[in-house]
Amino acid sequence: MKLLIPSAGTPVSFTDIAQGLTSSFNQSTKTFESVIKTYTNKKYCYFTNSGTTAFYVILKALKTISRKTEVILPAYTAPSLILPIRKTGLKPILCDISLKTFNMDIQSIERCINKNTLCIVPVHMFGLPMNTEDVAKIAQQHSLFVVEDAASSLGTTIQNHPTGTFGEAGFYSFNRGKNLSTLSGGCIVTDSEDIAAAIKTECASLPKLGFVSKLKIAAKLIALALAVRPLFYTIFNDLISKLKYTTLHTDFDSFAYTKFQAGVGCALFEQASKILNKRYDHGMFLFDMLAHLKGIKLPELIPHTVPVFNQFPIMFDDENVKEICFEKINGSGIESTKLYPDPIHRVYNLGYDLNNDPFPNATYFSRRLLLIPTHPMMNIEKLSRVVNIIKESLAV
Ligand SMILES: Cc1ncc(COP(=O)(O)O)c(C=O)c1O
Repeated sequence: MKLLIPSAGTPVSFTDIAQGLTSSFNQSTKTFESVIKTYTNKKYCYFTNSGTTAFYVILKALKTISRKTEVILPAYTAPSLILPIRKTGLKPILCDISLKTFNMDIQSIERCINKNTLCIVPVHMFGLPMNTEDVAKIAQQHSLFVVEDAASSLGTTIQNHPTGTFGEAGFYSFNRGKNLSTLSGGCIVTDSEDIAAAIKTECASLPKLGFVSKLKIAAKLIALALAVRPLFYTIFNDLISKLKYTTLHTDFDSFAYTKFQAGVGCALFEQASKILNKRYDHGMFLFDMLAHLKGIKLPELIPHTVPVFNQFPIMFDDENVKEICFEKINGSGIESTKLYPDPIHRVYNLGYDLNNDPFPNATYFSRRLLLIPTHPMMNIEKLSRVVNIIKESLAV
């Protein structure tokens, strides 16, 4: 039987789950809070049920401080980021991405700024660090907030500082596809007393789940811990595929993070360096093996950064070759993905003229992108299989 490797997964063990259960009875989320504060060296840390809610809470907090209304974000990123912006009554303003770094294009940010701009949201896509120094310079010149989306980049560092710690506020996601997963969850960090005070009020007003809902989360987390293991993933693949969300989200729920998940989070953080180093090593192996190939582009890495790859992004010159690689890699039992096949302005109607594409790089990129898993259940043998498939497909 050929074992299937999922596109995403954190190896959550039964010891981690036991730690989560103990913490459900003994502790609050305080222990996990101090773990994150130590990791980020930030004064304040708050948890939510998701990265989306974390972003929503930050935006609501900024609204209590400023009357400005526009939020600048990249045109290629998680489309769900639009929902909290809209829900707070703010306006998303997209900027194009760079085909060199695969992240927000710095020049495009400047063109989006006007007197209504509230904040810039740099996103470290796929765990790739974006140039926070340049973003900070622009933000300072125009007195804008920086809200750093480190949802996919937990562990990535820039000059030895973790991503998520460079702006006025930063957030992480612990959803099932992220670098460390507690099934779901979000986390906000900040040093600003004003922002923290507003975030604290918002978080305190998040509804707490009842016993049955908490039990369901615990059961799903345990099921996920099993489901991402290649043997279970292979046996239950049909069922798991049906459970994956494929439809476009139009709203999101906000509630408090559970003590059980915080307990699992603490347990995962104890082995974080092992898990995150594997992601880095796997990404760098792919980098070394693929960098010289004609027909694909890899992201330029910024000096003095350590990218902890959430997945490894490859941009193909030819969309058809990408499709062939996708089929062959998945056919070999390794789940590569094409997320997101469309940029944000083609997913949500934000009033942009699609006939005269305002964000051509984001469109070009989304059509040619293939993501290779880098999680700890991959290994050099499986990565080499991917490399060989890509080499063969490009040679045809
Ligand atoms: C870059 C980015 N930001 C934000 C989010 C939202 O996080 P969550 O799924 O925890 O709501 C995601 C989720 O995929 C993401 O990839």
